[in-house]
Amino acid sequence: MAEKIAVILAAGLGKRMNSRRHKVVHEVCGKPMIAHIVDEMKSVGFHRLIVVVGKLEEQVRAVLGDEVTYVRQTEQLGTGHAVMQAVPFLTEDSLTVVLYGDSPLIRREDVLRLMSEAEKGNATTVLTAEVEDPFAYGRVIRATDGSVERIVEEKDADDETRKIREVNSGIYAFQTKALLKVLPKMTANNAQGEYLLTDTVAHIRNDGGRVLPVVMADAGDIANVNDRIQLALVEKRMQSRILLRHMQNGVTIMDPEHTYVYSDVQIGQDTVLYPGTILEGHTVIGTDCVIGPNSRLVNANVADRVTVQSSVVLDSRIEEEVSVGPFAYIRPESRIGARAKIGDFVEIKKSLIGEDSKVSHLAYVGDSEVGQRVNIGCGVVTVNYDGFVKHKTIIGDDSFIGSNVNLVAPIQIGTGGYVATGSTVTDDVPENAFAIARERQTTKLGYVKNLKERLRMKSQNGSKKNGRE
Ligand code: UD1
Ligand code: CA
Repeated sequence: MAEKIAVILAAGLGKRMNSRRHKVVHEVCGKPMIAHIVDEMKSVGFHRLIVVVGKLEEQVRAVLGDEVTYVRQTEQLGTGHAVMQAVPFLTEDSLTVVLYGDSPLIRREDVLRLMSEAEKGNATTVLTAEVEDPFAYGRVIRATDGSVERIVEEKDADDETRKIREVNSGIYAFQTKALLKVLPKMTANNAQGEYLLTDTVAHIRNDGGRVLPVVMADAGDIANVNDRIQLALVEKRMQSRILLRHMQNGVTIMDPEHTYVYSDVQIGQDTVLYPGTILEGHTVIGTDCVIGPNSRLVNANVADRVTVQSSVVLDSRIEEEVSVGPFAYIRPESRIGARAKIGDFVEIKKSLIGEDSKVSHLAYVGDSEVGQRVNIGCGVVTVNYDGFVKHKTIIGDDSFIGSNVNLVAPIQIGTGGYVATGSTVTDDVPENAFAIARERQTTKLGYVKNLKERLRMKSQNGSKKNGRE
């Protein structure tokens, strides 16, 4: 089997993005464009993946690390010139697939078909698509036998050529020998003054090589990103592809138009996503969960049969049958034990909540370890910050923290401890102890009635003195 090499072009600046970031590191469904392409190509099984980089190459390296070979194009003199930089890595008897780093929708299946056609002895195969609006794409000129005669760029095309709707995807499979032979023949003699890779097609044909088109399974996958408008279109397309995959795997998505699931998210069978759900990063959701409406989970790890309503969960683990929300905020490094309840307007930060514990309403639990079967009342605050450092709160199993309690950390409540409502507790509470820390109530009988009477008399006397009666 001939060696298979992929060359991904990512040296162009992408000026139309109007960005300080390199075009190919802009994210589509939470993953840099170039990473989508590299991951997809890894599944094709190339012997070597080469990425051509130019300015801002450090941004591309930061995304891809050392899993690819980098070659540098110091001056951006065109796509043909970019491929020339990879020549030292191209072996004569191999197959070279060229892809553009700004086309993240490319699918493995299309590339495999492209390669298998090239392997049948054609010098080159070009992946093409018939699109509604061919503007800005290279037009594919077919010979009478159906093969490709040449590709003409928008700027070099006359009116007749511009009407052609079959366009170049920018993905090619070359018999490397044929490519190496024509690369030195390219000139920058065109409207853009660049070395255009598309010109290799005509050169290969003139050398007697056959260039075949392979039509994309879905023309929409041709979309490339040159500006932010196209970025939004590609995002939408990639998003529907991801949602479709989850639906096929048994996830119910009530309103796919208003649900966002990033590339690397996993969702278990029979989970239901309500509208307004956003699942980001490496979020993993178990089976039979109900997520949303209006919930954002980032790198959350959620077990089975969990409910999350109108809440935000960041970098945290949620065990089975937990109920979160509505309107809860679970911040990084938290772990919510099985069957626990985190109710409305509750914030949990860097805390462990034990199994079957309840924090049902209006509470802040930060830097805490809460045991099992604990009840944290409405309005409880773990006072974890003294203005200088954060302190820990430890609450033992089966304890009860009354409503509106302040637990001034560092503090420990022993197993079975009970803190009376309205207390501000500064000292540890031992096992099975009861702590109350508030002023005793004083009740003055009839006080209000007497007060009102006194005030009325006073105001009458005042009016008489002023002679207004
Ligand atoms: C290119 C094709 C066009 C095709 C379209 C499909 C050429 C001449 N034109 O046009 O036929 O229909 O893609 O999306 O190839 N790059 C470099 N070095 C350079 C110039 C570009 O690495 O000197 C890289 C860019 O980073 C980019 C890719 O090549 O990832 C394509 O370049 P771009 O300028 O976006 O080409 P298009 O005008 O879109
Ligand atoms: Ca482009």
